Amino acid sequence: MIYSSALTSRVMAASALLVATTNQGKLREIRAILSGLPCELLTLSDWPGVVTPEENGLTFEENARAKAVHYATATRQLTVAEDSGLEIDALDGAPGIESARWGGVSATYPRKFAIIYEALRAKDALDSPARFVCALALVRDGEILFEARGTVEGRIAPEPEGEGGFGYDPIFFYPPLGRTLAQVNEKSAISHRGAAFCALRKYLEGVASLQPPTSECGC
Ligand code: IMP
Repeated sequence: MIYSSALTSRVMAASALLVATTNQGKLREIRAILSGLPCELLTLSDWPGVVTPEENGLTFEENARAKAVHYATATRQLTVAEDSGLEIDALDGAPGIESARWGGVSATYPRKFAIIYEALRAKDALDSPARFVCALALVRDGEILFEARGTVEGRIAPEPEGEGGFGYDPIFFYPPLGRTLAQVNEKSAISHRGAAFCALRKYLEGVASLQPPTSECGC
């Protein structure tokens, strides 16, 4: 996690925060975690013409930084972007940073699940340990102000279960609660994204508390 007090004035000058994702599942979770911050949360639907960047990074962190820098430059907003995915130990960390594209960009999640179960069956590792990872970067004027990483450890479920969440949640079994992430009510209290964005929230609140109240937003 990076914290740079020398850069807090850049954060303080903002009255809005762009949450740069087109994934509605992520957006729903992030909005809930950041709700109540004294700033307007903007989304990419406020910039319909903005181009989506290619994801060429080799790590979640590289991709998060690249996305945040890209969207902050294109919109001139204080911007947070994240990169996330599922790492399965028996598959050497796959799908990892390729999670969204696993099995092809247009593959449905049932198809992605089937590919994963087939690969795990071939290795006799159907209940492999796995984790979700979320890396985020906060950027303004091309500078990275803050970064955080969150993870949640679990196993691959014997079969997909649950209707909540999104993406790979139905096949991610969380042992402490004995259910999949698609079956938990308060996913953000335990999730990778919850951990990373709670760290961001604390950072933004900390920056705000360093300054006297102004008409500008604390973000
Ligand atoms: P990104 O847009 O490249 O970061 O792709 C992230 C992908 O990882 C998503 O499209 C999902 O397939 C998967 N993923 C990330 N976070 C979650 C989660 O919380 N639940 C389920 N799948 C997730």
